[in-house]
Amino acid sequence: MRLFIAACLAFATSPVLAAPPPANAPVVSADGSLFRAFGGHDGLVRVVDDLFVYVDADTRINGFFEKAKRTHTKAMLVEQFCQVTGGGCVYSGKDMGASHHELGITQADFNALVEDLQKAMDQNKVPFTAQNRLLAALAPQSRAIVYHQTAADLATSGPVSK
Ligand code: HEM
Repeated sequence: MRLFIAACLAFATSPVLAAPPPANAPVVSADGSLFRAFGGHDGLVRVVDDLFVYVDADTRINGFFEKAKRTHTKAMLVEQFCQVTGGGCVYSGKDMGASHHELGITQADFNALVEDLQKAMDQNKVPFTAQNRLLAALAPQSRAIVYHQTAADLATSGPVSK
C-alpha cells in the first residue's frame, strides 16, 4: 500500500500532467466521515503535533522549519486538513505555491514529510483507509510545493544548485 501511495505521488508530479497545480486541496469527504475517522478537530491537532515531533527529529527536512512560525504553520495545517476531510473549516492560509516556492523543496523532501505524516497518523491509530484518503488528496499539491525552476528564475539567479 505504501508503494501505491508512492506511485500516486510520482504520478501527481509527472511532467506529463501539465495542468496548473491546485491552489489548495479539495474537500474529499463532504459528509465529514473522514474528519470523524481522524477523531475530529482534536484528532487532527494531535496528528499535526506528532507530525512536528517526527519532523523535528528528521534530519532530512528539519532545517526547512527552523525559521518558520511554528504555531501558525501548525494551525494552518490543521485548518487545511479539517477542510479537506470535511470538518467544515475554511482554510485561510497562503496558497501552497506561495508558501513553498522560495524554499526549494525537492520531491525527496516532499516524500520525507509524507513519511513523517504517515508515522504521526499511525501513532494516533488513524484507520489505514482514512490515512490513504488524506494522502491521496494531498498528493496533487506536490506540484505546487516541490520546486520547479522557471525560465524567470534562470534569468534572474541562474541554476539552483540543490
Ligand atoms: C502535502 C504536503 C504539505 C502540505 C499540505 C503543507 C502545508 C503547509 C501549510 C498549510 C503551510 C502554512 C501556510 C501559511 O503560512 O499560510 C505550510 C508552510 C510551510 N511548509 Fe508546508 N506543506 C506541505 C509540504 C511541505 C514540505 C515537504 C516542506 C519541507 C520539507 C514544507 C515546509 C514548510 C515550511 C518551512 C513552511 C513555513 C513557511 C513560512 O512560514 O514562511 N511543507 N505548509
